[in-house]
Amino acid sequence: IWTVDKNKKTLPSDPSIVEAADYIKRGEVVAFPTETVYGLGADASSREAVNKIFAAKGRPGDNPLIVHIADYPHLDNLNVQVDDVERRLMEAFWPGPLTIVLHGIFPVSANVTAGLDTLAVRMPDHPVALALIKASGKALAAPSANLSGRPSPTKASHVTFDLDRRIAGVVDGGETGYGLESTVVEWKDGVCWILRPGGVTKEQIEKLLPDTPVRNEAGSSQEAPKSPGTKYRHYAPDTPLFLIEESRIMNEVRRARKQGKKTGVLSSSESYKDLAEEADFCLDMGSVHTPEVFSSRLYSALREADEHRLDVLFCPVFEETEMGAALMNRLKKAAEEPAAE
Ligand code: TXA
Ligand code: MG
Repeated sequence: IWTVDKNKKTLPSDPSIVEAADYIKRGEVVAFPTETVYGLGADASSREAVNKIFAAKGRPGDNPLIVHIADYPHLDNLNVQVDDVERRLMEAFWPGPLTIVLHGIFPVSANVTAGLDTLAVRMPDHPVALALIKASGKALAAPSANLSGRPSPTKASHVTFDLDRRIAGVVDGGETGYGLESTVVEWKDGVCWILRPGGVTKEQIEKLLPDTPVRNEAGSSQEAPKSPGTKYRHYAPDTPLFLIEESRIMNEVRRARKQGKKTGVLSSSESYKDLAEEADFCLDMGSVHTPEVFSSRLYSALREADEHRLDVLFCPVFEETEMGAALMNRLKKAAEEPAAE
């Protein structure tokens, strides 16, 4: 573990960053913080290095990776086609939690895109991530740094819990910001498709592109998913998770306890005091009015809940607007039964 202070301006010349970047240059995988979640990075141009990512995570090979860049010359090196809409998205939201699916003839290893003819690219808004990318001089293929099927890591300790001994190291830059993965978009057939909701909201994109239809791809279950990763059961806690109206949680907790069940609640601040007295396990996730705060604590809370070996975990539903859309997307996935695959 290399510990880096994210509050100071992290430079590519920082000794910890130089050391971590050396591992990447040698084809190893290194975990690093971003403003969304921790990523597991490797040189995107090296087939062997990228294979190590899939092996470490236990990730299916048909689920493509996002390539992380630090600046625009990096983007030019990737040889991607950038249309006007994509250019405007970049200017508005990069660096930041937006991944853009692009066309082109890219000099990245074929296992990065899992055989697709598109490449997902993002420029993270985190000094440590940017410094590591610059110091390695590589575009970094990086999925979230969790074991496949576990919640994404928002702290370095989550990464080591899942991947210790499977990877070369972790750059510890403290807790991530948003706590949910980036928004993934694709500009296609005159529509800006949101393949995965995240930190950049639909409302923000609509405001930027008033004349462009912006649609959620996630949820239209008829066709094959456009973002292959969304078909897998992600973000899954071991504890059965139930999403219910906040006002019903107290009753459900009481009922479950009468049945002898060990109960947990991811509670709003407003209900925390009452629910904490009733449930075996209760976490204050912030106000019902701040889904962004709830989001930033979600994955850590799911991991903590798992450690308590609960029989049931209750969580309130949020309105699916602004950050509430990404939050509900992840909560629904965590609450789902595993797909029969
Ligand atoms: O915030 C994030 O995006 C984090 C940090 C580390 O940057 N990364 C992340 O990566 O969440 P991962 O691998 O866990 O999720 C990548 C998502 C998957 O749903 C994958 O299917 C989709 O992006 N994806 C990657 N390449 C794609 C492509 N060419 N077309 C469509 N979807 C793609
Ligand atoms: Mg992931």
